Amino acid sequence: MIDPDAFHAFEHAGWENVPEPYDRAWGNLTSQAIEPLLTAVGVQQGTKMIDIATGPGYVAAAAAKRGAKIAGVDFSAAMIAQAQRNVPDVEFRQGDAEQLPFDKGVFDAAVMNFGILHLARPEQALAEACRVLRVGGSFAFTAWAKPEEAVGFQIVLKAIEQFGNLTVSLPEGPPFFRFSEPEECMRALVAAGFQSSKVTKVPQIWRLPSGDGLFEAMKEGTVRTAGLLRAQTADALIRIGEAIRRSTRTYQKGNVVELPMPAILASGTKA
Ligand SMILES: C[S@@+](CC[C@H](N)C(=O)[O-])C[C@H]1O[C@@H](n2cnc3c(N)ncnc32)[C@H](O)[C@@H]1O
Repeated sequence: MIDPDAFHAFEHAGWENVPEPYDRAWGNLTSQAIEPLLTAVGVQQGTKMIDIATGPGYVAAAAAKRGAKIAGVDFSAAMIAQAQRNVPDVEFRQGDAEQLPFDKGVFDAAVMNFGILHLARPEQALAEACRVLRVGGSFAFTAWAKPEEAVGFQIVLKAIEQFGNLTVSLPEGPPFFRFSEPEECMRALVAAGFQSSKVTKVPQIWRLPSGDGLFEAMKEGTVRTAGLLRAQTADALIRIGEAIRRSTRTYQKGNVVELPMPAILASGTKA
């Protein structure tokens, strides 16, 4: 049974500790969705945009380059500090996606890049994104495609299934791959008050150092998957690491591995 407060606290504590490893391992991947995301919500010179769950501020930085006026929000003080260092000209604010610190109708556009799968109450966050938009304003979010397609997750989950335990006790959250389903994205957007909803897929390739690059990225730069890995026994963790290393060899190109990690991009307009 899901305890949203416990899951929220678990995610919050986790994100406070990972800004640097996240930036190192995941930045080159999540940044690949930025241009499709900004285009989906029509960001241009003068657009008032909120970047929800901004993390190190990648989307905010790109939107600022298009001439938009940006507010970046994240519930992690450490992420906000990192974002502010990365993009000094944008105003970042600590705040919760489930209770945005802004008035109704103040933005033309809202985006959330790979934030939704970390939320204890995603429906509430979608409703909040809708609330802060003006009528006719646009919202878009991304989530990972299913592990059958998002190879980095496929490799790690298979290794845990084979050599460890996928059912260790962690604060339970909403299903990690819930928004990998286009129908679920459409349903949730309509329920939150959006119309003209659309879902597309963004092809992405994750470049990581060969060897332990994927294992380290998951163990050091995530929250839920890292929790799953850390909860394994020491022996199981060694075997899981070896299995991940073996599987990534198939994707090796020189000193790096190139893993397909497509994203689902869902968007809608405030009715
Ligand atoms: C996977 S990172 C995505 C970061 C960034 N948007 C990117 O494109 O790489 C998820 C981010 O969501 C933030 N987050 C998770 N739950 C949140 C919440 N309830 N409110 C605000 N931010 C949240 C985390 O602190 C983290 O920075």
